[in-house]
Amino acid sequence: MAHDHHQHHGHHEAHGHTHTDLDWAEQGPMLEAQAELYTPAYEQALAWLAEEVPAPKLIVDAGSGPGVVACLFAQAFPQAHVVAVDGAGPLLERARERAEQQGLGDRFSILTGELPDVLGKLDRPVDLLWASRSLHHLGDQQAALTAFGEHLAPGGTLALLEGGLPARFLPRYIGIGRPGLQSRLTALEEEWFARMRAGLPGAVPETEDWPALLTAAGLRPTRTRSFLLDLPAPATDQARAHVATTLTRLRDAAPDDLTPEDRTTLDRLLDPTDPASVHHRPDVFLLDAYTIHTAVRPA
Ligand SMILES: C[S@@+](CC[C@H](N)C(=O)[O-])C[C@H]1O[C@@H](n2cnc3c(N)ncnc32)[C@H](O)[C@@H]1O
Repeated sequence: MAHDHHQHHGHHEAHGHTHTDLDWAEQGPMLEAQAELYTPAYEQALAWLAEEVPAPKLIVDAGSGPGVVACLFAQAFPQAHVVAVDGAGPLLERARERAEQQGLGDRFSILTGELPDVLGKLDRPVDLLWASRSLHHLGDQQAALTAFGEHLAPGGTLALLEGGLPARFLPRYIGIGRPGLQSRLTALEEEWFARMRAGLPGAVPETEDWPALLTAAGLRPTRTRSFLLDLPAPATDQARAHVATTLTRLRDAAPDDLTPEDRTTLDRLLDPTDPASVHHRPDVFLLDAYTIHTAVRPA
């Protein structure tokens, strides 16, 4: 998934408001379900990170949301302490509950506050800082990356998950409506994403050349790799639910941006009583790619 647009539901940022706990807290169940579905891709990514950072003592998940991935870190690095950091307190409570349920509570803590400044509350330098789809919610991404880098231990690693490919879950032609629906939705998402960024407090337009930004942050880029989530048809109920949630969000985010024909098609795709809906159709799949860039703080 190249981007996420959860916040567009309420158009908060588009109207110039800052991020609030409530907005993100509402996204908790969706973020949690998505991260659970994407766990096979995260597990591959974490194994790849472990090649570069075999024994981190302190791992920070900057913008962890409800903590599914932070808990995967705690499992993959059994000697590490993991701190889940987020602006949304209710999501961090979910993270803490999850860690406790998984028996990870003694190696897991939470830190609530605005990134990147809240990292100043850490009492130790960080060996592995993971920032997944959170940097693009900060107005000045270069300044935030520089601040992230300053909290790394010498030789510590920053792992940034940004970009990749837009998720696909329907064939080009689905037998109803105008062919190419999902590509048109992806184009609209790019527009919405640009509006979201422009509306962030202190927004700075920035070329999304992540290794270059990491270099400008005083770090040494080490590796870039993309991880595939490949759940072929027929989709599981969990994957269908994710597809339905995503399409609902896209349909409702900016209804006027869609043609009447595409809106009708989306209504059919989302109607559980319609055999052509994503709840029943046999051709639903989930194919997605996440890109991770790593960089090291010089010793
Ligand atoms: C799209 S979610 C990503 C969650 C998770 N890392 C993932 O990849 O699924 C973005 C997260 O960043 C957090 N966030 C956004 N802006 C923030 C800010 N200014 N300070 C702290 N957290 C923020 C949100 O609360 C949310 O949990």
